[in-house]
Amino acid sequence: MKRFACLMISTAAMVAAGTAMAAGDAARGEAEFAVCAVCHGEQGEGFEKYGAPKIGGQEDWYIVLSLTNFRAGARARDNCDVADVAGTLERAKAESPDYAEIEAELATHFEGGLPSGGACSQPSADVHGSLMRAIALTLEDDQLVQDLAAYATSLTPPLPPVTVEGDVTAGTMGYATCIACHGANGEGIQALNAPAVAGQHDWYTQRQLMNYMSGVRGTNPQNITDMQMRPMAQVLITPEAVKNVTAYINTFTAAE
Ligand code: HEC
Ligand code: HEC
Repeated sequence: MKRFACLMISTAAMVAAGTAMAAGDAARGEAEFAVCAVCHGEQGEGFEKYGAPKIGGQEDWYIVLSLTNFRAGARARDNCDVADVAGTLERAKAESPDYAEIEAELATHFEGGLPSGGACSQPSADVHGSLMRAIALTLEDDQLVQDLAAYATSLTPPLPPVTVEGDVTAGTMGYATCIACHGANGEGIQALNAPAVAGQHDWYTQRQLMNYMSGVRGTNPQNITDMQMRPMAQVLITPEAVKNVTAYINTFTAAE
């Protein structure tokens, strides 16, 4: 069953990025996950202070889609195709001093210290996305994307805490637009490339919806799925409505 699912992802990734890949090797993915754990945690649980979402237990096809798009510059594009981890981390530090904590640890994962793109990388409005893109560009090969996805999807991190409060009744109505693609319980629909939104950190959902509204995300013509999502977020119109819909999404996984 799992194996079949992996073959399905290869097709999705092919459509997304025009590259053919074989199914993932979770053992190799586990060995290579150490660098991911610096920001996303050992269980892929995600950390708010690093802006890093939960990826443990996320659908393997969406991890592949995301990493493939980051690598191709279809998500968080800057003007540089060289992995500029040092430069993007500098800018992330300016945004959130917590990033200073991980600089040394992150450097240990790269021979010769943090990769730097030198002068080629321009500041981007998408500080978090640019950092993730720089990391994705350090992955040796497309097969590693599959391997990391195979491992990350097998993880079972705890449910994230609730941090976003809002009007759940208003949010229920706001979510009516979302059902067609993300499912009535936020479970996601692979055939539509729409990931699960249930069980994700609420601050991440909120930030991504704000990113879509402002055009930080969803304006790159190379990324059709992101372009599809943008007008859906724009329907929400106000930050208040984003909060409400996020609060409603929280109810999908609320403890009994
Ligand atoms: C330096 C910190 C850092 C490291 C190291 C890192 N990430 Fe990330 N990652 C992030 C941040 C921040 C985001 C959120 C990007 C955004 O806001 O769009 C992210 C986003 C992602 C996403 C998109 C998830 C979604 O729901 O949209 C995936 C998949 C991902 N990372 C996988 C990985 C993998 C696999 C590795 C290891 C190879 C890794 N990350 C290493 C910081 C990091
Ligand atoms: C027409 C289908 C469609 C509708 C309707 C839709 N979405 Fe999406 N959504 C997508 C797709 C496709 C993606 C994946 C984009 C990508 O990463 O390339 C996505 C991505 C997202 C993400 C980012 C997830 C992540 O892990 O990075 C969030 C959050 C989200 N949608 C929330 C919503 C909400 C809330 C609504 C309703 C207001 C909604 N979506 C309506 C298709 C849709």
